[in-house]
Amino acid sequence: MTEPADPTLARFYGADTLPELEAMRVAMLGKSGEITAQLKSLGPMTPEQRAIEGPKIHAQREAVTAAIAERKAELEAAELDARLATERLDLSLPSRETPRGSIHPVSQVMDELAEIFADLGFAVAEGPEIEDDWHNFTALNIPETHPARAMHDTFYLAGEHERPMVLRTHTSPVQIRTMMASKPPIRLIAPGRVYRSDSDATHTPMFHQIEGLVIDKGITMGHLKWTLETFLKTFFERNDIVLRLRPSYFPFTEPSAEVDVGWSMEKGRRVVGGSEGWMEVLGSGMVHPRVIAACGLDPDEWQGFAFGTGVDRLAMLKYGMNDLRAFFDGDLRWMKHYGFLSLDVPTLSGGIGA
Ligand code: DAH
Repeated sequence: MTEPADPTLARFYGADTLPELEAMRVAMLGKSGEITAQLKSLGPMTPEQRAIEGPKIHAQREAVTAAIAERKAELEAAELDARLATERLDLSLPSRETPRGSIHPVSQVMDELAEIFADLGFAVAEGPEIEDDWHNFTALNIPETHPARAMHDTFYLAGEHERPMVLRTHTSPVQIRTMMASKPPIRLIAPGRVYRSDSDATHTPMFHQIEGLVIDKGITMGHLKWTLETFLKTFFERNDIVLRLRPSYFPFTEPSAEVDVGWSMEKGRRVVGGSEGWMEVLGSGMVHPRVIAACGLDPDEWQGFAFGTGVDRLAMLKYGMNDLRAFFDGDLRWMKHYGFLSLDVPTLSGGIGA
């Protein structure tokens, strides 16, 4: 750029920095700047004088504005060049490790269970976590005054409702909802969150269960036992799984059995398999005729079995965590240790038990 002959304008091209140029702009065009003062002097002039002086002052103002803008663009370009010369991007550097999400053990185990039961012909069903007490208790043969209601530390919802509302204490109400909504034969699992007012190392107010239900003609306890055995062998990836069915009581099944799985010591650790000792893993039984009738089905025509178990507990047994509370603390270090990489999850097809 060639500097203009006008010395006033040439001054701007002498500015070496943007702040210096800005100071010059204020001195000329600012509130008490030179040109601003000249513009103000037009006021008291006679019309004839103003007709002569006005265009001159305005032309000067435009020339000054243009010169400043031009110098500003030059200085900015020079600044950018200087930065480009010093700041360098090294494209050969390895990228920073980006945080990667992982799959929570509960999600992982739920997927494994859905896959195992899908292979056995079970569909996945869902129900609401906010339930009414009819689905959660009454239809499951737990009448209002029945002491079994006290077995569950129930969270009741405040306020007036047509029926008392609860946070479901188990996944069993999904049995009721499915039997009422669809015709047998039924084979379903219902995984999901459940809630109880309970909190220590082995209990959290929210945890996960999975329910199983089969309703058909001529279903016996033999079917129940085979299904549970197949499921537990596949899940724990061992053929030496031994089950023990202990007579028990649940209001919605008759007869009822609690199922223990055998464990043994391997390298100083208790592992599932063998039968050195027993631990309880689930509740089960033949669906009570009253439950079948409450859903509008004829218990003389339809029978079935049901079972329910804790997903978190299964995850702990399979993957070796010992504190249930850590599942829900949201500690990323725990997740990094126990979580599963999304492209590397164990699956039936990908080789559970391989
Ligand atoms: N609902 C029971 C609970 O939460 C578990 C259970 C036991 C479910 C026996 C069943 C069953 O379906 O047959 O403690």
